[in-house]
Amino acid sequence: MDSQEINVVLHENRTFPPSKEFQDQAHIAGMDAYRELHKKSIEDPDTFWAEAADELHWFKKWDQVMDDSEKPFYKWFTGGKTNLCYNCVDRHLDGPNRNKAAIIWEGEPGDSRVLTYYDLHREICKFANGLKSLGIKKGDRVAIYLPMIPELAMALLACARIGAVHSVVFAGFSADSIKDRILDMDAKWVITGDGAWRRGKPLHLKPIVDEAIEGLNCVEKVVVVQRDDGDTFDCDMKEGRDVDYHELVKDQSKECPAEELDSEDMLFLLYTSGTTGKPKGIMHTQGGYMVYTYLTAKYIFDLKPEDVYFCTADIGWITGHSYLVYGPLANAATCVMYEGAPNYPDNGRFWAIVEKYGATIFYTAPTAIRAFMKWGDQWPESYDLSSLRLLGTVGEPINPEAWMWYHEKIGSEKCPIVDTWWQTETGGVMLTPLPGVTSTKPGSATLPFFGVDAAVVNEAGEEKQAGLLTIRKPWPAITRGVYGDPERFKDTYWCNWDGKYYFPGDGAKIDEDGYFWVLGRVDDVVNVSGHRIGTAELESVYVEHPTVAESAVVGIKHEIKGQGLASFVTLREGIEGSDELKKELDELVAKKIGKFAKPEKIIFTIDLPKTRSGKIMRRLLRDIAEGRALGNVTTLADPSIVESLKGQYSED
Ligand code: WTA
Repeated sequence: MDSQEINVVLHENRTFPPSKEFQDQAHIAGMDAYRELHKKSIEDPDTFWAEAADELHWFKKWDQVMDDSEKPFYKWFTGGKTNLCYNCVDRHLDGPNRNKAAIIWEGEPGDSRVLTYYDLHREICKFANGLKSLGIKKGDRVAIYLPMIPELAMALLACARIGAVHSVVFAGFSADSIKDRILDMDAKWVITGDGAWRRGKPLHLKPIVDEAIEGLNCVEKVVVVQRDDGDTFDCDMKEGRDVDYHELVKDQSKECPAEELDSEDMLFLLYTSGTTGKPKGIMHTQGGYMVYTYLTAKYIFDLKPEDVYFCTADIGWITGHSYLVYGPLANAATCVMYEGAPNYPDNGRFWAIVEKYGATIFYTAPTAIRAFMKWGDQWPESYDLSSLRLLGTVGEPINPEAWMWYHEKIGSEKCPIVDTWWQTETGGVMLTPLPGVTSTKPGSATLPFFGVDAAVVNEAGEEKQAGLLTIRKPWPAITRGVYGDPERFKDTYWCNWDGKYYFPGDGAKIDEDGYFWVLGRVDDVVNVSGHRIGTAELESVYVEHPTVAESAVVGIKHEIKGQGLASFVTLREGIEGSDELKKELDELVAKKIGKFAKPEKIIFTIDLPKTRSGKIMRRLLRDIAEGRALGNVTTLADPSIVESLKGQYSED
């Protein structure tokens, strides 16, 4: 772990206690109440989680709260029958929420749609009936490649309603990435769209899907949602395979009973990067994920009936799943969903949306906050942000300056900030302040949520001030594993401490108040603008190029993105590096993964620094790429490589 980073956080001692006003109305009545409830949730998790689950609808109550008979494959609420879609929608129809706005959607060009809970119910039922008419049933995997339009949220909920397993592929991924995921999950159905607006330009999605499934025998039907009337997004429809969404749902019944599903029935798969070249299909199930996202959303965002909650995450990532769709809707919240770029038509777009809809809660990522800072204070200053009462951040460690800027310029020094640490695999937030309860410190995700037994330990499992973050008890939304690869789940997350504790892959520090400071990944996963990218994925792309012999990719600090990528590429004998070749390699990464994975720099090298046993010394490469003094090179097979690389990198 980077000792510089530990020093920075050690010196951050500003604290921001919650205001009396916020405290008085918060769900949890202060720090003592938090500590007491947290203690109870750890000592007697069954009672704690049963009480939480009781706030939701079950067709049949569970027999057992947590079943650990097949550790580390924990199961929750076993024997219970429920339906997450029912809990997000139907549960709210009898009473004051029936005609409450569930989703306020704004398109990039400024068009908007409001769907009440009643509207949402009707649209989801029709969608679900349409999916059934295509032969989709419980347990079937459905790949979704849609932009941020309301039908994306509806597609998730429609699948959940009938027990089909959705797997959203973020609409920035390339055709090859979609193909790999479809093959891994063996999906017969794809739901996509003709296009979306991005920075004022039409983004055509359907041709990407066509390319992805060209020659794939498993895909039988493709449902295509039209973004607009008219012909902006016109696309080819393949006879017999492609189905127009509006045609599909037009004559469907507006009633579709929610399937009574087992708590442990699979809800979704979401692919995420790990330390190997192959993304993992992270599995989540109906019951545990539902209870956890419901309760975390309620307490962390302090959701109240009158809130207008604006989460800027794309539904293509876990934050969009848990805290734009499922968690807030299970709480009958009003969610603002936005299609496009934060800087279109100008840098004030998010603030215009906050002002227009009177958003009270705003949840975004540090990378976005750093971009806002760079764009200048005049943007937020030109809008009325007085409706905001709570701010949140997620995706990577937030640097204290960005935290302070968020606090002062967006929160007018009155809104608590919840810095939420979690991952695709945890399903929901694990470390976080509770607004109105926890005094915050800029850069710290503070304390564990209820039921979360977090610790910072060394390799031997002893508690330390700095080291590896670990979770010592299962929680309801813990992933049920890697799709089709149970061993990988064990090897990745349970490999240390005799398989007793969960290891998320992050390093952390704990301060004298017991606050957690997450310092970032300690494995070869890099967080670029909050998007997880496995360096091994890029490395295996490079070696596919005929000129490349070997490569090593490392994460480097980046002012806006948090982290960027630097690629060291060794070419085959007799091949010269050139700008043209760099361009070709960038194009290959865009084709195989997606444009967002493009590195900041490519450096051609004659060789890579390796230990005598042949392991690439990534730490050294990071040092070189970030221009730091070099660490220990005594174990290096050929120390001269480092000096030559260093010279090359600084010339570049
Ligand atoms: C990082 C995103 C510090 C962390 C929800 C984790 C954070 C990875 C924070 C998961 C935070 C997320 N502070 N680091 N508040 N939130 N991370 O799966 O390294 O896309 O392991 O889930 O993001 O990324 P993922």
